[in-house]
Amino acid sequence: MTEGKKGNIKIVEVSPRDGLQNEKEIISLEKKKKLIECLMDTGVQEIEIGSFVSPKWVPQMQDTEQLFLSVLPKDGVKFSALVPNMKGFERLMNLPEKNRPKKIAVFTAASDTFNLKNINCTTEQSFEMIKPVVESAKKEGFEVRGYVSVAFWCPYEKKISPEKTLYVCERLLEMGVDEISVGDTVGRASPLDVYQLLSVITKKIPHNLIALHFHNTYGMALLNSFISFHDFGITTFDSSAGGLGGCPFAPGASGNVATEDLVFMFENSGIETGVNWKKVIEAVSVLEIPLRSTLSKIKNPLEE
Ligand code: HMG
Ligand code: MG
Repeated sequence: MTEGKKGNIKIVEVSPRDGLQNEKEIISLEKKKKLIECLMDTGVQEIEIGSFVSPKWVPQMQDTEQLFLSVLPKDGVKFSALVPNMKGFERLMNLPEKNRPKKIAVFTAASDTFNLKNINCTTEQSFEMIKPVVESAKKEGFEVRGYVSVAFWCPYEKKISPEKTLYVCERLLEMGVDEISVGDTVGRASPLDVYQLLSVITKKIPHNLIALHFHNTYGMALLNSFISFHDFGITTFDSSAGGLGGCPFAPGASGNVATEDLVFMFENSGIETGVNWKKVIEAVSVLEIPLRSTLSKIKNPLEE
């Protein structure tokens, strides 16, 4: 393992948002609140709490305002939320200042078809929708993340070229986003896809502005995370406790890479994350829904 790369993985915990948005049964505000409180004790630095999206489109996220009103971040933890358009930004700004997250995330995709299914507009139209959100958010002092979904594969348009994904990343950066999260929404990226895309985008975009957001449908998310870190120096990874997650508009996609599995892999490779994977399993267990991670299924993990 290369020295100097240790101790610098940042986990962005997305279970309250990506982890839950596709759950059919509405999960109570109390349980979501308990999840977030427990996650804050695991060592994660950033938690995506919810989405100011249309409740008609994603009913599970309709209590996002109430969540922000009922739980505040502890020292050392940053909260964030998805904001699709100015309507969503208005909802965010209607919260008392102390209850607003410090960070927001806008989102688009590298495929028109996926964008039409997910946000009801093409990629070019999405830039028009997002631009005023980024401008207003920056003016109000928010940190802004830009998600690029289906960056490797699209459920509708199949393999996406690295150039197409790079174009969308660059448009978001031109608007002023502080960070790009590159999403394997369908969890279909192979190590070769990761090499191909990251070789292209890291030539143009500094690696410290890039986060990777892997889903684990085809079981390649851990390997892809390790390659992204080891070969491309990426240190920010989105993951979901319990391996929960999925996008309602990406058929066939399964959960995000599980936080506990990701942490276990990095820590057992001598790379610190600052996160306690056992506490992550405890945290997500408050939801009382089936977990999908590898570690949650191992009764007595073999440790030193
Ligand atoms: P639309 O229907 O085209 O919106 O939806 P519209 O502007 O035509 O407005 C229609 C109605 O919706 C109006 O109400 C608006 O006020 C209302 P009406 O006049 O009919 O009563 N509306 C809203 N209400 C609440 N909050 C809002 C909002 N906006 C409009 N923000 C829209 C467009 C973008 C809103 C919709 O398509 C939407 O909410 N999509 C979100 C889909 C979503 O959340 N997908 C999952 C997140 S992305 C993801 O999971 C991928 C990621 O994890 C990374 C990866 O894995 O790749 C991030
Ligand atoms: Mg996702």
